Amino acid sequence: MKKDLSKISGFYKLSVSERQALISKLVNLNKEERKILENFGYFSYDQLDLISENVIGSYSLPFSIATNFKVNDKDYLIPMVTEEASVVAAASNGARIARKCGGFHSEPITSIMIGQIQFTNFTKPDYVKKILIENKDYLIKIANLCDKTLVDMGGGAQDLEVREISTDRGQMIILHLFVDVLDAMGANVVNTMVEKIAQVIIEKKMVKAQINLKIISNLAIYRVAICSAVFDKEMLGGKDIIERILDAQAFAKADPFRATTANKGIMNGIDALALATGNDVRAIEAGAHAFASLNGIYGPLTEYYIDNDENLVGTIEIPIPMAILGGIIHKHPMTKIALKILDVKSAEELSQVAAAVGLAQNLAALRALTNEGIQSGHMKLHIRK
Ligand code: MEV
Repeated sequence: MKKDLSKISGFYKLSVSERQALISKLVNLNKEERKILENFGYFSYDQLDLISENVIGSYSLPFSIATNFKVNDKDYLIPMVTEEASVVAAASNGARIARKCGGFHSEPITSIMIGQIQFTNFTKPDYVKKILIENKDYLIKIANLCDKTLVDMGGGAQDLEVREISTDRGQMIILHLFVDVLDAMGANVVNTMVEKIAQVIIEKKMVKAQINLKIISNLAIYRVAICSAVFDKEMLGGKDIIERILDAQAFAKADPFRATTANKGIMNGIDALALATGNDVRAIEAGAHAFASLNGIYGPLTEYYIDNDENLVGTIEIPIPMAILGGIIHKHPMTKIALKILDVKSAEELSQVAAAVGLAQNLAALRALTNEGIQSGHMKLHIRK
């Protein structure tokens, strides 16, 4: 390895072609590798260079469709971007079993995100809290001046609360701004709003405290999707398999080592849909795992029980801050196609569908694991290929 290989000053200032040439030279890419690097697919160099930084290539992954999904009595074709074999087949399989008893039922979801402002270095916490609460309407008004369009469409900052927390660097006051972000993921608007509020608090010397962080919280507890389905006992393989699935679920509830893997399986589907639709996978992942441990113990995001007809009922409860607007969503040609295939009218509808995908994925994984294991499915897939 060359010394100081990665010490490249002003790499960002180079054009895409110059960066490609430099990296190719540094790591000795051959002609064939350079040809792959230079293939940007349906993107122009300029388009990708605008989306991210230090771009030298474009990275393709399979774009697949999961079938059999019925959510709230509407049929959906589910676009999925994943490199993991059998994720799409598993989702389609879980949805096929749910379909026999009517498919998935997802509850309405609100689209409120939380913005946080951190106050430190104060001597009178109660006074700081009192002033912030007294100025609540004013601060909400300031926040809403940041995005008139959102407000005109019925969204915007709606409320705020002030919390005091104990930390290993002393007491802190945390302001929570609640913003209805409608069909967006919300990071841009929420961050703009909390930065603006903080600036006004400082300029007006409203409180004797230092303002530190001003940032959205990715723990989207007001965007929680709750979705359930009845899974037919015959299609599942009978009573014994259902008992085994319940045992597997009890295992996950009692053991974070298993719960992590179960939730990873759920996210296999949700992430694939999030990627296909240009959503922020990292935000959804972070929120999901934090939510899975909100009561202090990390647990599975699903629940199962047997109903009076001896079918298996599954429920998933998971924050899904998905968007149909903003970010890369209307810039990426494939996300536009994904949304057309999905035919969702709102972020809420997309999140309801995503929850169904997560539940289908979990059920299918549990069914395989309690039956023949997942490797034989993988092998069948390989042989078919
Ligand atoms: C593999 O990507 C996902 C599973 O491990 C999920 C699970 O164990 O529930 C099969």
